[in-house]
Amino acid sequence: MSKDIKRIAVFTSGGDAPGMNAAIRAVVRTGTFHDLHIFGIYRGYQGMINGDIRRLETKDVGNIIHRGGTILKTARCDEFRTVEGRKLAYESLIAHDIDACIAIGGNGTFTGAKIFSEEYEIPFIGLPGTIDNDLYGTDYTIGFDTAINTAVEAVDKIRDTADSHNRLFFVEVMGRHAGFIALNTGIGSGASNIMIPETDTTIDDLIQQLKIGAKRQKMFSLVIVAEGNKNGGAMEIAQKVKERFDYYDTKVTIIGHLQRGGSPTCMDRVLSSRLGHSAVEALLDGRRNIMVGLHQEKINFVSFDDAINKHKPLNQVLIRMAEVLAL
Ligand code: F6P
Repeated sequence: MSKDIKRIAVFTSGGDAPGMNAAIRAVVRTGTFHDLHIFGIYRGYQGMINGDIRRLETKDVGNIIHRGGTILKTARCDEFRTVEGRKLAYESLIAHDIDACIAIGGNGTFTGAKIFSEEYEIPFIGLPGTIDNDLYGTDYTIGFDTAINTAVEAVDKIRDTADSHNRLFFVEVMGRHAGFIALNTGIGSGASNIMIPETDTTIDDLIQQLKIGAKRQKMFSLVIVAEGNKNGGAMEIAQKVKERFDYYDTKVTIIGHLQRGGSPTCMDRVLSSRLGHSAVEALLDGRRNIMVGLHQEKINFVSFDDAINKHKPLNQVLIRMAEVLAL
């Protein structure tokens, strides 16, 4: 192992995701095991610019593995998109003698890391931290499992009241550009329909399917809508359906940021621990400017370019299966 790297800074950026704390803990403890000094940057790239960088020791990450959110806080930072902002960030890192950074976040975080590492000689390693699960190079992202479990729990509750009142519910889940949360929540909660950005289901198709259900005397229906659906969000779709099909009393629930909080599931804690641990070891092994993911149960390294630009497709078998099981 190369021992050139002595001081590593870790930060979280973009939307928070349950499991980020477990990843921070794994970075700090693995770094300490290898006699490195680990620093936390507060509020992502904004904290890097402002020089909000503090030493993290083993005790600082005690009692956080089960906590949602991120102890390092997070932000979406426009200043880092500018040359001047990145220069200030570089100066802060140099002032703290930082040799390398570990960035936990999504697409925007890695885009910033890639540009920065092309401009300055400070290596970055990325960890996929987003509930959306939309990053190429990893089967699962940190926070996804917790988010779908939270969403399924919410939909189970909606199912009870939908059944009691014979209602049609449109439930909106997160996922700006991808339907991973919606597809899994839909299958896991036994929804009648799932509206995701990756498929071309129209309002006509949806009404057609709901009518078939009504003909079979289906007493209530649950439609899961990904926020990035082409036909609009749950509110919009519900309105369009209501105007042309009023067999059911129609209601809308937007689960929203509930999906982003809460104690991470065991799956997320284990994933985050593995990724955080591997990120430090990858740096010591001389790896630079890559994302560490998990593919088929093995640690997988992909370039920032691939993680950012390559598309992770939804499993078509699951899409087809969801349709069959909803019949
Ligand atoms: O990228 C994660 C995500 O939770 C998306 O699913 C959602 O659209 C977005 O973040 C919401 O971001 P914010 O909390 O900044 O409104």
